Amino acid sequence: MPSAGTKMNPRHRKNLNVLLPTFAVLGLMFGLVAYAPQLYRIFCGATGYGGTTQRVLTDSATISDKTVTVAFDSNVAPGLPWRFEPEQREVTVHLGEQKLVYFTAENLSNESIVAHATFNVTPETSGLYFNKIQCFCFNEERLDPHQKVEMPVVFYVDPEFAKDPDNQHVDTITLSYTLLRSVDPSQSKNLARFRKDATPDPAHGKEIFAERCNACHTMDTNRTGPMLRDVVGRAAGSVAGYHYSPALEGAHLTWSEDNLDRWLRSPKDFVPGARMPVRVLDAPSRRDVIAYLKQVGEAPADTAQHSAARGEY
Ligand code: HEC
Repeated sequence: MPSAGTKMNPRHRKNLNVLLPTFAVLGLMFGLVAYAPQLYRIFCGATGYGGTTQRVLTDSATISDKTVTVAFDSNVAPGLPWRFEPEQREVTVHLGEQKLVYFTAENLSNESIVAHATFNVTPETSGLYFNKIQCFCFNEERLDPHQKVEMPVVFYVDPEFAKDPDNQHVDTITLSYTLLRSVDPSQSKNLARFRKDATPDPAHGKEIFAERCNACHTMDTNRTGPMLRDVVGRAAGSVAGYHYSPALEGAHLTWSEDNLDRWLRSPKDFVPGARMPVRVLDAPSRRDVIAYLKQVGEAPADTAQHSAARGEY
């Protein structure tokens, strides 16, 4: 026992033994009540309870033979003059397989409007296994008057889905979005970035690099993947000291914006036998990450970091 405790008379100590845990429990209860909404979100985010989906940065390691159908549903809350529709009613995917789908949004009014998407999946028991890699629903989104865009969503269903007894008889998962007028329009991103004619955004590319490439690549050191400074214009498979797959080493390619785009869309289709296990399915993300790689190659390290940080994204 600590010294303070040993000097106390035994009856007081007994009271304290009862009181301290009581205060602790009371404190915890007040805490729980005060933070209930946040806790609920954390809990739901972590467990998928209530049909919340998971946000992930990496791909699934395995692709299963089993398939599931994913159906899409879209709603617009009253007071938001937008049209909003999935471009496909449903898709059938292998568990673990990344899939790219599109939703169209159009602002029917004469003013710029910021909206926010809420979403859920049914049945609720599938939420835990529904992983989104890219989604407009991560941000507050702005559309200029009468502008129309196709918004990419990249997702996969975790192969563990098939092992969960609750999902044994589930063959269709419905992903449902509702768009509402934003209550916090100041933090919005412009949906125009998804347009094909949008200017490449290296600042966004930098974010993607941090989220999806950095685990294996840095600019100046070989890690799981080769270092990437000056990769635009460099011969493929040519960094000294990095152990490439024979496929990439023998590919006789020079990395241009165009073939980097094909590489990132699917390394193993572009260079059969290549060992990079990551794919970036949506074109705007590839465009921006390539713009970032190009910018880092053109400028000294410090400047590139600086101007990337100042971007609108
Ligand atoms: C899980 C690890 C991993 C991640 C994440 C990853 N890569 Fe790679 N990358 C590799 C490996 C391994 C190679 C070498 C492939 C080979 O030798 O076949 C590679 C090679 C490359 C090359 C060819 C470089 C050269 O010298 O020829 C480019 C370009 C590249 N990666 C870009 C990216 C970008 C951009 C991202 C993020 C969107 C990314 N990679 C994410 C592992 C990864």
